[in-house]
Amino acid sequence: MSLENKVPHQSNTTNHRHLTLGVFGFGCVGQGLYHVLNETPGIKADIKKICVKDKNKSRLLPEKLFTFDKEEILNDPEIDVVVELIDDSNAAFEIVKEALQKGKAVVTANKKMLAEHLEEIYHLQRQYGKPVLYEGSVCGSIPIIRNLEEYYDNDLLTGIEGIFNGSTNYILTKVFEEKKNYSDALQQAQELGFAESDPSLDVKGFDPKFKLVIAIAHTFGVFVKPEDVINIGIDKISELDLKFAYDNHYAIKLVARAFKIKNRVYGFVCPQFIESTHPLYAVRNEYNAVQLESAFAEKQLFVGKGAGSYPTGSAVLSDISALTYQYQYEYKKLHQLNDLQFSNHLLVEAFVSFDKGINISISDFAHFESGYASHGKQYMVGKVSLSKLHEWSLLDGVGIILAPGAVFTPEKKSTSEESFAFA
Ligand code: HSE
Repeated sequence: MSLENKVPHQSNTTNHRHLTLGVFGFGCVGQGLYHVLNETPGIKADIKKICVKDKNKSRLLPEKLFTFDKEEILNDPEIDVVVELIDDSNAAFEIVKEALQKGKAVVTANKKMLAEHLEEIYHLQRQYGKPVLYEGSVCGSIPIIRNLEEYYDNDLLTGIEGIFNGSTNYILTKVFEEKKNYSDALQQAQELGFAESDPSLDVKGFDPKFKLVIAIAHTFGVFVKPEDVINIGIDKISELDLKFAYDNHYAIKLVARAFKIKNRVYGFVCPQFIESTHPLYAVRNEYNAVQLESAFAEKQLFVGKGAGSYPTGSAVLSDISALTYQYQYEYKKLHQLNDLQFSNHLLVEAFVSFDKGINISISDFAHFESGYASHGKQYMVGKVSLSKLHEWSLLDGVGIILAPGAVFTPEKKSTSEESFAFA
C-alpha cells in the first residue's frame, strides 16, 4: 500500500496549503533556513516556534520565538510540520518519531540519524501516514533524492558516485591549490560551518557514508546499515601521496560510490586519484557532485554546494515547499528491485603507501601490479579486496587511494566475469 492511501483527508486541503512550522535547532542550517524562508516571497509557510538547547546563547530574533521545551512544538496542534535540524542524532530520531506519532510531517537534514534509522523511518511513515522529507541530508543543495524518486522512477540505474562531503573537498582543494596545510584547511572548513561538530565524521569518511546509505535506498531500493558500508577517509593521506598526485597531474577526491552488478549492490567511500579529464576533477571547495549512470540516459552529473548555511537551508526549504502540495517519497525502487543484496566482496585497484615495518606484502594482493620504496615509505599498487583495504585503513601510517579509473570486480567466481567502472 502506498503512503498516499494512509494520509488522512484534510478538510482545508487546497493545491498548496499554508504550513505552520516548528523548528528544532538554530545552528548553521537552522539560521540558513530562517534566512532563505524570509527571502522567498512565494513560500506558504511560517515558523511558529524554534526549540533550542542553550539557554545562555544570545540570539538576534525575538525571545518569544524560542522555546527550550520540545513538547511545546510537538504538542502544538497548530504546527503541521516539524523541521528537525539538531546535531544529536539520537535525540533527533526521538523527535522525528514523536512528531510522526502526533500526526506531523517532518523535514530533516540529519544524515547520521537517517542512515542509522532509515528502514524504521520508512515503516513509521507508513504506520502514521505522514511524510518525512530529507533532500538537505544528501549533498546539500543538489536535488538528488527527489530526482532519484521521480525522474528516475523507472530508470535502470546501475551506479551512483560522487563527492558527498563538502569539508573534505574544501580541505583537499586548499591543500592542492593553495598549498595550505591540512590542519589549517580543516580549521577553515570548521569556521565556515561546513564541518561537522565532530570533524572526524568528515575526514574519516563517515559523513559521506551516511549520505551514501540514504542514496542507496533511493537508487537501488536497498536498506543497508551504515556499519556494513566501508568508509576510508582522507586523514591518513601522506606528503608522498600528495607528491605522487602532483607529479602525475591528478587531483585526490573523497569519492562515495555504489553500483550494481547482477543482483548485488556494492558501495563504499574511499579517496581516489582523479585525472584532469574526469568530471569530478573540476569540482572544488565545498561543492559536491553526483554522477548517475543509467542503462539508457547513460551518465548524468549534478553539481552544487554540498555544505553551508544557505545552500543546505535552500534544500530544506524545497522540502517544506513540497509539503505544501502533500509530496511524499514512495520509495519506488524498493518495490521494483527487491532481489538485490548489498555486498562488500569486491576487488578494487588501489595505491597503498605505508611506513616501513608495517606488515603489508605482495601476497595480500589478488593482482599485484607494481611497488617501490621512497623516503622511508613503501608503495604497492594492485587489485586487493575491499575488506583488506578496510583492515589496512585502520592502521596508522597507511594511506589508501584508489587508482584513477579503477575497475571494480566481484570477488566471487560466479559474478567475476562482470565488473564496473565509471570511465
Ligand atoms: N559536514 C558536511 C559536509 C555538511 O562537509 O559535507 C553537509 O552535510
